Amino acid sequence: MIKVGLVGLGAAAGSIWIPALRELPGVELVAGADPDPTAVGRMARLAPSMAVHQELEHLLEDHRSIDWIVIATPPDTHARLAIQALEAGRHVVCEKPFAPTLAEVDQILAAATRAGRTVAVNHEMPSMPIVAESLRAVASGEHGRLLFAQVWQTLVDPPGGGWRNQGQTMAEFGTHAVDLLVQAFGEVPSAVLAAMPRPDGVVGDPVDLVTLFFSGGRAGHIVLDRLCRGAHKYLELRFDCVEASLRASMGGRASIEVGLDARSRRPRLRLDLAGGGQAWVERASERAVIARNPTSTLAHATGLHVQRIFEQVGRGAEPPGAGRRARDIVRVVQAAYRSAAEGRRVPLAEVD
Ligand SMILES: NC(=O)c1ccc[n+]([C@@H]2O[C@H](COP(=O)([O-])OP(=O)(O)OC[C@H]3O[C@@H](n4cnc5c(N)ncnc54)[C@H](O)[C@@H]3O)[C@@H](O)[C@H]2O)c1
Repeated sequence: MIKVGLVGLGAAAGSIWIPALRELPGVELVAGADPDPTAVGRMARLAPSMAVHQELEHLLEDHRSIDWIVIATPPDTHARLAIQALEAGRHVVCEKPFAPTLAEVDQILAAATRAGRTVAVNHEMPSMPIVAESLRAVASGEHGRLLFAQVWQTLVDPPGGGWRNQGQTMAEFGTHAVDLLVQAFGEVPSAVLAAMPRPDGVVGDPVDLVTLFFSGGRAGHIVLDRLCRGAHKYLELRFDCVEASLRASMGGRASIEVGLDARSRRPRLRLDLAGGGQAWVERASERAVIARNPTSTLAHATGLHVQRIFEQVGRGAEPPGAGRRARDIVRVVQAAYRSAAEGRRVPLAEVD
């Protein structure tokens, strides 16, 4: 039995971690920690058997049998809590973004090395069925080489202010988009060019337009849009390969499209029905669905991701989302902010 402690009992704990851990065979969520009594009260209903503490320190002292600590607190607390857990001899799964600065990331990695423990980050998007199948198709080369990719997200600000409304969109959400492009191209980009237009009176970086440059003249483009007040799409993907484009769209879809097939000039009826989103391959107007997500998308993907982390570490192998790889994602995010601030293309080698 793998025993887990959960630090931070807020939105991600309730909607992602508790449902994800509950479904994993051989895994027990033993205890949680959060200083906020409201959060603690909510969790008592969601996970009644979980012991709850106000501080990570007490959780670590009282539950010596816990092997893994999951950190689901605001980003600026990740480094302190991760180091505390590692120094107490526990492995860590940290929510994204790993940490706000590279210096903090390096302190976490050094603590993991000293303790002989693993730290991995919840970059769970590649475990989502629609993304996993798209990445598999790209890696197999069955549609030819990947030439260009786009990741597109619209984001809703949660009500009531808080740490999220400081508007660090690229740092907070860009981590997923960068991770997806790095996975698709199978390498870190050599350079980053970004623009972050900010209308007067809006804080942070509400819009991120970021291009990542990969080997062989290939590129990936990210659009993050926090100004969208229309229907939201949390994630749209497009991988343009030599022979076909792979597309994925997260979120519920229910539509009927009636049209005329461009090639055959015959009438066409297309029915789209997918609770958590779908992926498909397109060649001109021909289209074939290749994967669908379950409705509880993020919890399902996090469950698969963390299960692989536990399995790989159990075998002594590097897990998905490994800290040293997650460090590269933070480098790319920082290169994007530098590029937008200085108005130039930033080689990734500059950010280390
Ligand atoms: N991987 C994903 O898809 C995904 C989705 C949502 C959120 N997240 C990440 O999860 C993290 C948490 O996000 P959230 O939306 O749950 O935030 P939240 O504000 O809803 O919850 C954070 C909780 O952490 C608690 N907390 C703060 N400091 C603490 C400390 N020192 N010890 C223990 N608890 C502490 C707060 O009281 C709060 O209850 C963030 O890093 C966020 O980016 C990831």
